Amino acid sequence: MIPTFIYGTAWKEEETERLTRLAIEAGFRGIDTANQRRHYFEAGVGAAVAGAIRDGVVQRDELFLQTKFTYLRGQDHRLPYDPKADPATQVRQSFASSLEHLQVEAIDSYVLHGPGDHDREVWRAMEALPVRFLGISNVSLHQLEALHAFASVKPMFVQNRCFARSGWDAEVRAFCRAKGIIYQGFSLLTANLNELRSAAFRAIVTRVRRTPAQVVFRFARQVGMLPLTGTTDPQHMREDLAIDDFELTSEEVGVMISGLVRHGS
Ligand SMILES: NC(=O)c1ccc[n+]([C@@H]2O[C@H](COP(=O)([O-])OP(=O)(O)OC[C@H]3O[C@@H](n4cnc5c(N)ncnc54)[C@H](OP(=O)(O)O)[C@@H]3O)[C@@H](O)[C@H]2O)c1
Repeated sequence: MIPTFIYGTAWKEEETERLTRLAIEAGFRGIDTANQRRHYFEAGVGAAVAGAIRDGVVQRDELFLQTKFTYLRGQDHRLPYDPKADPATQVRQSFASSLEHLQVEAIDSYVLHGPGDHDREVWRAMEALPVRFLGISNVSLHQLEALHAFASVKPMFVQNRCFARSGWDAEVRAFCRAKGIIYQGFSLLTANLNELRSAAFRAIVTRVRRTPAQVVFRFARQVGMLPLTGTTDPQHMREDLAIDDFELTSEEVGVMISGLVRHGS
């Protein structure tokens, strides 16, 4: 099952296990991590998942676990593979290490963290892995088109930082829509601080009587995005999930899409 919201586990270090467990308890069923110790503590995610399953909070098949292969240049010295191995071997080593960290037998979505110099070899190796879905992150329209053209197993997900000023990644989202790819948006709040201060945005928040974060996530949902949140606050976790009982009008969606700032400061 593909979730409607994903809890992101970046930058949580020794708090990763506690916060991931809290997120599962709050109701998140999608979890995003990466085998990139520089920004993620994948083993902490695995400990949280194992604990939640052991304690009967959730069953494995109710969870959607997503992790990533990260090229050498995105890693620090804590590598999940042999830096001298060929790219395909690195993918297999990183994947095996992810299974160990996550304490599971299967991963739902495996994402190429960002394009690099060996995308064909890397993607071919990813295609041979026993995963349900593949994805690509931090990708431009041009890079996505190229990958989509050579992929035998097409990406099911694109995960990008989503800037309001680019129409919320309008070109990439349009390609995704045309190809049946689900667009995962991150930094929906932090990449758009100016836009979220605009009068146009504040007017929408006032009308629907929700928090600004809820309006952004609701907007994301209404335009077909699968949003990520990495909040560390249990109250925010509950609020982020509680966006099913209100709706933006098509006019409000239009104002949001067009980038907000030009509608007033
Ligand atoms: N593929 C990639 O390269 C990549 C890069 C970056 C991120 N990601 C993924 O995306 C996830 C989310 O990252 P993000 O960049 O979107 O930012 P984030 O880590 O979720 O940060 C959001 C910030 O907004 C604040 N905030 C205030 N109210 C909030 C609310 N109601 N809900 C959520 N946040 C609220 C949070 O503070 P509080 O903690 O106090 O709520 C936090 O400081 C990451 O954990 C990671 O899984 C992927």
